[in-house]
Amino acid sequence: MKRDFLSTREWSLEELDDLLQRALRIKGGTDIPDFRGKVMSLLFFNASVRTRMSFESGMSRFGGHGVYVQPGKDTWVFEHRDGIVMDGNTQEHLREVAPVMSRFAHVIGIRKSDLITTSSTTADVEGSWSDVKQDPFMRAFAKHATVPVVNMESNMEHPCQELADRMTLAEKIPEPRGKKYVLTYSWHPKSLPLATPHSQVLSAAALGMNVVLLRPEGWDMDPEVTDAARERAEARGGSLEITDDIEGAYDGAVAVCAKAWGSMSYYGRAEEESEAKKAQRGRWIVDAEKMARTDNGVFMHCLPVRRGVVVTDDVLNHPNCVTTDQAENRLWAQVGLLTKLLQE
Ligand code: CP
Repeated sequence: MKRDFLSTREWSLEELDDLLQRALRIKGGTDIPDFRGKVMSLLFFNASVRTRMSFESGMSRFGGHGVYVQPGKDTWVFEHRDGIVMDGNTQEHLREVAPVMSRFAHVIGIRKSDLITTSSTTADVEGSWSDVKQDPFMRAFAKHATVPVVNMESNMEHPCQELADRMTLAEKIPEPRGKKYVLTYSWHPKSLPLATPHSQVLSAAALGMNVVLLRPEGWDMDPEVTDAARERAEARGGSLEITDDIEGAYDGAVAVCAKAWGSMSYYGRAEEESEAKKAQRGRWIVDAEKMARTDNGVFMHCLPVRRGVVVTDDVLNHPNCVTTDQAENRLWAQVGLLTKLLQE
């Protein structure tokens, strides 16, 4: 049976612990993966720096190869829906594409978020959040592929970011269990996806931290994720608190992770959301005054980050900023995952 990595909620906490330990050993040089002769296809529907380069680097360093593909640009336009008469724009169905690609590659990574855009405005989304969050393309691809499929960021989760953030927290915070981790919402000119903050809240919960989700009223995450995070945190001796008390949240935190995301209440209504959140600008930025309330806390962000919008320069330029370590750990965490998927 092949094993996909689409959501960490489909992996047990013990399996995630195992991935973390592998990644730490590989980074420390005591475990050397062997990817000789192995190929990973990397399907990117959206732009990327870290995800693309960390997977390509991870495959190459240990003897394998990553093949970068931009579907629809380098390929035919793919159809994922069943029972469709393909007389429109789509040219090839996943029922053919996924098995064919599975003959060429040993593992397939897919980045497909309907909510990521390189344009200056929010992505236009089709469908309701309840439909979009099912990640229908990625799920259909995984169903028809005969090799493992890795989620390189979907609408709902960014599980590789979760692995890397968890690794960074484990490295930077001695005995993280019971310590305070804050995931703070930040204002942003666009309505950004929920996938990364979903995965970030899950990362600290899996370490048994006291997770504080700091957001303004109306900018909650999907309850499916916050319920899972609470369950995880409590299973490991931690907790999950959701609050809009900015000062109280920062007090005594050992880690502050910032991320902007769009409101589910305004889903698909970006202009109305933009109007509603005007007053947030400035108030929700991470700055030195807020960080001074922490217990010498580290600052985290998945990158890319907008300086002066999400976080001030002095926080990003401070020695406690660990964003580069987070990015580096994408490489080691993913290589740890690939050893599980390719070598076992
Ligand atoms: N954090 C992250 O996934 O970065 P990229 O979008 O550059 O891959």
